[in-house]
Amino acid sequence: MGAITSTILLLKPGDHIICDESVYGGTIEYLNKIGIPRNLLTADFIDFTDLNNLKSALKPETQMILFESPSNPLLKLVDIAEAVKITKAHNKDILIVADNTFMTPYFQNPFKFGVDIVVHSLSKYINGHHDVVMGAIVINDSKYCDHFSSMQKIVGAVPSPFDCYLVTRGIKTLHLRMKRHYKNALAVAKFLEKHPCVEKVLYPALESHPQHEIHKKQAIGMSGMIAVYLKGEEKEATAFLEALQVVTIAGSLGGCETTVTLPALMSHENIPREHRIKVGITDGLIRLSIGLEDIEDLIADFDQALKHAILDKN
Ligand SMILES: Cc1ncc(COP(=O)(O)O)c(C=O)c1O
Repeated sequence: MGAITSTILLLKPGDHIICDESVYGGTIEYLNKIGIPRNLLTADFIDFTDLNNLKSALKPETQMILFESPSNPLLKLVDIAEAVKITKAHNKDILIVADNTFMTPYFQNPFKFGVDIVVHSLSKYINGHHDVVMGAIVINDSKYCDHFSSMQKIVGAVPSPFDCYLVTRGIKTLHLRMKRHYKNALAVAKFLEKHPCVEKVLYPALESHPQHEIHKKQAIGMSGMIAVYLKGEEKEATAFLEALQVVTIAGSLGGCETTVTLPALMSHENIPREHRIKVGITDGLIRLSIGLEDIEDLIADFDQALKHAILDKN
């Protein structure tokens, strides 16, 4: 979170930021509870999957746009090259910030499309072992160095030497882990897509993903993140989570072990139900972070838990 806060603090009072409405909840909370009420900036939250929304939101005082692609938890994509083109045509000085946590530099490089600043939660794939909380800001222009080195001290986002050691150790296997996350997740997504207890699967590398063409244009693979709409509501979704034996219920993601969340009751429980449902976070939505286990074990576990929670109950 310190990485994103430090990046937003590049803005001056009176500046305007446009954020994808799907960005990490902590960013929205920072803007709504600190940035906006203290008149540090003004902000608009829009849906970047339709870039006409971006065109209409750009103002003379806009100085930054911020988005994630793919987003958490619905795996919505932003056409990065198009978003950059539209923004820079309006004003070439607007800073474009992309959160690349769900892809890692192994599968997607936002700088290639003209993004100015890339942020990562290192707690996820880059460290990869669920044992560090850390973030990174990646820049390709040294003019931001002074700002970020002083912000690190002011905001307090200074990691411990041991955490840095763990992250550098994790990075050494990033390429191997990402290949396996992709292979496992693709197999799980294909399995779930055909399962009688599943309504819909959202995984950018599947042809059925509504933005599959954008995925192919800007990424060379996909991580282990999958969104699944079960045939059922909160009761069935909870029963599914409780029936899992290999897979762990946990909010974190991007580690070796497969984890599952029910966003309606976990990460998004404080968001009014009406608003949640409107953006697609229904009571039966499950978010999976597929790990590095043997694929047969994962598929068998999902299959038995789905049958137990949905088929056997009807
Ligand atoms: C896409 C994305 N960005 C940033 C964060 C914040 O990460 P951290 O908990 O490491 O501060 C998260 C956390 O879930 C995330 O999913």
